[in-house]
Amino acid sequence: MIDQSLTVRDAIIQRRSIKQFNGQPVERDALLAILEDAIWAPNHQLRQPWRFVVACGKELVELYDVLKEFAIPKWKELSEDELEKQMKKFKTPGGYVFVIVPEDARQKERLEDYAAASMLVQNVQLLAWDRGIGSCWKTPGYLDNPKFREALGVKSGERIISMLQVGYFDEMPKPKPRKSVDELITIFEKQA
Ligand SMILES: Cc1cc2nc3c(=O)[nH]c(=O)nc-3n(C[C@H](O)[C@H](O)[C@H](O)COP(=O)(O)O)c2cc1C
Repeated sequence: MIDQSLTVRDAIIQRRSIKQFNGQPVERDALLAILEDAIWAPNHQLRQPWRFVVACGKELVELYDVLKEFAIPKWKELSEDELEKQMKKFKTPGGYVFVIVPEDARQKERLEDYAAASMLVQNVQLLAWDRGIGSCWKTPGYLDNPKFREALGVKSGERIISMLQVGYFDEMPKPKPRKSVDELITIFEKQA
């Protein structure tokens, strides 16, 4: 087997957020290997401000129960068919990684920790992409719901910064064009 990876540049440019997965399971070994590599993200004072709640395989069933309750507020009133329809977008990803970051009381450290964990998430997304696994960083409001946090075992002083859905997909989304970098750059000129 040829072990050929995308170049860093290709991975960065070609990665897309995948919002429609095809239901194919994500191998636990692959997901854990991705996390193993992703933790090499830069982080100040080596605080390594992250931990993960991972679901793929058999534990997904219980996660669906939790998601149903928080993502679909009127789930009890829905027919089985309707509920199944609304749950489809939660059941097609092959796995979930909830990225949990400590909320340092000091503002500088808290921002640094969020920045470092965001780099880690990008690492996960790029490493997954390199294996043909798509992902999407999701931030639904219920991530901060105390009962949802409790269901995931999140402690006080911690925050879920990302519900990262991972999985295989059939359709490649079109890239959303970015602003030209020319619009963003100011060549430094000392101000008066
Ligand atoms: C911090 C952050 C939060 C995001 N939250 C959501 C979200 O809640 N729902 C969603 O569909 N996409 C979310 N996204 C994904 C963006 O929509 C996506 O990155 C953007 O549309 C650009 O597409 P691309 O990643 O394919 O280049 C989030 C991305 C980031 C970085």
